Order: sequence, then structure tokens, then C-alpha cells
Amino acid sequence: MAAIETDEDDFEIDAEDLDDSPVTGSVSEQLSLLVNDLHITYRVFGAKKVGHGPAKEQSALQKFLSRGASSQQGVREVHAVRGISFSARHGESIGIIGVNGSGKSTLLRAIAGLIPPAQGSVYVAGDPALLGVNAVLMGDLTGERNIMIGGLALGLTPQQVKDRYQDVVDFAEIGEFVNLPMKSYSSGMGQRLRFAISASAVPDILMIDEALSTGDAGFRAKSKARINEVREAAGTVFLVSHSLATVKSMCERVLWVHQGQLVMDGPAEEVCKHYRRFVVASREAAKAKADAEK
Ligand SMILES: Nc1ncnc2c1ncn2[C@@H]1O[C@H](COP(=O)(O)OP(=O)(O)O)[C@@H](O)[C@H]1O
Ligand SMILES: [Mg+2]
Repeated sequence: MAAIETDEDDFEIDAEDLDDSPVTGSVSEQLSLLVNDLHITYRVFGAKKVGHGPAKEQSALQKFLSRGASSQQGVREVHAVRGISFSARHGESIGIIGVNGSGKSTLLRAIAGLIPPAQGSVYVAGDPALLGVNAVLMGDLTGERNIMIGGLALGLTPQQVKDRYQDVVDFAEIGEFVNLPMKSYSSGMGQRLRFAISASAVPDILMIDEALSTGDAGFRAKSKARINEVREAAGTVFLVSHSLATVKSMCERVLWVHQGQLVMDGPAEEVCKHYRRFVVASREAAKAKADAEK
């Protein structure tokens, strides 16, 4: 198996992460989402072939003459999701775990309809109002402008955004920073604002990609309450997080994705246990290999 980056994985359970209250919400029998044999391929242009020496300096004329050929050669395909199938029900909260590069964000983008499948299909009942909030926010603009842009991206009307504006600011706990460009925010503030914006509408499917990692215990508790609200309104929640404690406190079901494939789909406790074993074993294997090479 290929070497795996696990540095960012946080599976230590710190006390403030723990939350004894049960994950609430009733799961209906009706499907909200059906993902069937989904394949997603990225085309990366201009990638240099491995094994070639440093690129030769080309004159503008040479570049012009060879542009057709080089754009052919320079396309590399990344098969990020390889045949994933699962279904989700209204009211379910589903965690997605896996090492970096395993395809979690790609899967969410495909569910949100932001990337077309290369093969297979995604069927969404209702409005997957993504939640592509991250994609539309702009660092040069103030928090205030971004709340408007993000709200519109979620399908709210300008008046609805205005009505919810103060709630979003309060939820994100950014105070006066709302009048400053988002790029001046600490990463915690930025993440809180992103989460607050994506939670300002009650979408049919709420997807949270690594947005809760820096929040403190208080913010996490509020986020969990917000997630439960979405679920009670018959929405489905997807949560990608490196913190297994966060995943376990917010989801009863977990999908483990590895190299673009679904390794496990089951109760949060059980899937997290297997994943943790896998991460520990891969670390030990990587360490043994490094030692052997010394
Ligand atoms: N926009 C992109 N263009 C090309 N390759 C990408 C792009 N986004 C992700 N990838 C590749 O797709 C694979 C899955 O990435 P990603 O879905 O971001 O994984 P994860 O969220 O689990 O870390 C990785 O190999 C990554 O390098
Ligand atoms: Mg990701």
C-alpha cells in the first residue's frame, strides 16, 4: 500500500470534544440521496510527465508551434472517486472519514452537483443547496459582503439574508471583524463564519467539510444544535472531519473512504474503531520501513 499522510489526523479524544448527549433526530424511511457507482475524474492540464528532465526553455515561436501537441501530452487524469455507492435518508447525519487525498471533498462536491460524474449517478431528492459556500466566498471582501454572497449561493433571497444577517454574525462570534476583509480573519474566525453562513439556510442536505476543527467547545455545541435542527427539518447532514471524536459526537453513521473507494459504511463507533486501527497500523508500517532504510 502506498505511503499515507496521516499527520493531520486527530484521533486523540480530548475531554472537551466529548459530548454525552445522544445524536438526536429521527431517520425517515425515505431516501434523500442515492449515489450509484460514482466515478469522478479530474483532468489536470499542463502537468509535466514524471521522469523527464527539467523543462527546456522554449522560444515563444516554439511554444506557439507545439501548443496543440503539448496540451495533448500535458493532460493527466486523477481518478479521485472510483465506484462509490450508498444511499442516505432524511434525518440522517453521516460522517465521512479517510486520510488526506482519499476523495472525501470530491465526493461532497459531486453530491452538491459541482462536478459531473465521469460514470455513475447522483440522485438528490430536494435541493442540495450547497453549501458550495466555500467556493463562492472571497477573501478580499468583508464578512458582511460574504454573508450576502454565501446566502444567495444557498438560494436565499436578499431579504432573507438581511433578516438572518445578525444571527449569522452572532453565531460566528466575529463581532466587528464582520466589517473587515475575510482574509484578515484568523483561521478560526474564517471557519466559524463559513459554518455560520452554510447553516443560515435550512437546506435539504447540509455538507460540512472540515469546518469544525478549530472551533472551541462552545462553538461545537452550537454547531451540533444547528445540525440537529437541519435533521429535525428532515434534512441530511454530511460531516467531513479529521477528529473522530467530533464525527462520533455528531453522526451515528460513518463512511470510510480510501483511495476513492468506500471501505466501510456502518455505525460511527464501529467504523471509527476500524479506521483508527488502520491509521495506527499504517504509521507503524511507515516507521518500520523508514527504520529499515536507515
Ligand atoms: N481540483 C482538482 N484537480 C485535480 N486533482 C484534484 C483536485 N481536487 C482534488 N484532486 C485530487 O483528487 C484526489 C482526492 O482529493 P480530495 O477529494 O480533496 O480528498 P480529501 O478531501 O479526502 O483529502 C487527490 O488525489 C487530489 O490530489
Ligand atoms: Mg478534503
